Amino acid sequence: MTYETLLVEQRGGVTLITLNRPQALNALNSQVLADLISALAAFDADPSQGCAVLTGSEKAFAAGADIKEMASQSFADMYGGNFFAGYDRVTATRKPVIAAVAGYALGGGCELAMMCDFIIAGDNAKFGQPEIKLAVTPGMGGSQRMARAIGKAKTMDMCLTGRMMDATEAEQSGLVARVVPVADLVEEAVKAATTIAGMAPLATLAVKEMVNAAFETTLQQGVVFERRLFHGLFGSEDQTEGMAAFVEKRPGNWTGR
Ligand code: CAA
Repeated sequence: MTYETLLVEQRGGVTLITLNRPQALNALNSQVLADLISALAAFDADPSQGCAVLTGSEKAFAAGADIKEMASQSFADMYGGNFFAGYDRVTATRKPVIAAVAGYALGGGCELAMMCDFIIAGDNAKFGQPEIKLAVTPGMGGSQRMARAIGKAKTMDMCLTGRMMDATEAEQSGLVARVVPVADLVEEAVKAATTIAGMAPLATLAVKEMVNAAFETTLQQGVVFERRLFHGLFGSEDQTEGMAAFVEKRPGNWTGR
């Protein structure tokens, strides 16, 4: 399958999705969203694929939603058309997705990175929610996901001043999981994704579901939810295999059952 705005390749069990609108610094227009939804759905449905990496170019992961596409829209267009609601389908991806961010991740670009399960940043990465400078606000979940990731003080600072945060500050703040030299970014992200793709598939789905539940529920309900998923994995063949493999000092051989 080929896409107008993405390059997609499989590296073993890892799907590498590269945003490819260099002329607009990977600004996220409707075509990018349609392509992303389609590529992520194909990844999710392919049993040979265990983890995806979403990346951009060395200059820009994505410089935001496409301002030129939005500029002439009215309230009726945006509200009536539920603009950006399609991104809910991006976050509905059940298998893990790692964002590998180099260069600018601004506005919708930062928001797209935060929709992924974790972010690995190149050391030249710059994150920001500069929408305030356009007299609007984040609209793809940035105020909510950033506040949950790094807290109120820094989120207010970022969204009210529109300033950029470099990779070091992003790592110190907990926005990104790791920072690596930009030249190694994609390889490091694919390496992490290969590790994840090598785990038992049902346990991997369960981890993603339970960690995400931490942002939606109380501690008590979340702990019960986690425990029930843990209990449920004892109905899987891979649990039997995983624990036998440990005892027999050999790698597990997963069936995804
Ligand atoms: N939308 C549309 N086009 C964009 C864009 C965007 N978000 N960001 C960059 N581009 C385009 C530029 O218009 C330019 O195109 P032309 O050559 O046709 O003029 C091309 O990409 C290269 O950009 P620059 O010449 O500006 O590159 P630079 O290196 O001088 O600056 C930058 C880089 C600082 C990232 C600057 O491009 C910039 O500030 N971009 C906009 C960032 C922004 O405001 N993002 C938020 C968008 S609103 C949003 O995302 C809403 C939401 O919540 C989802």
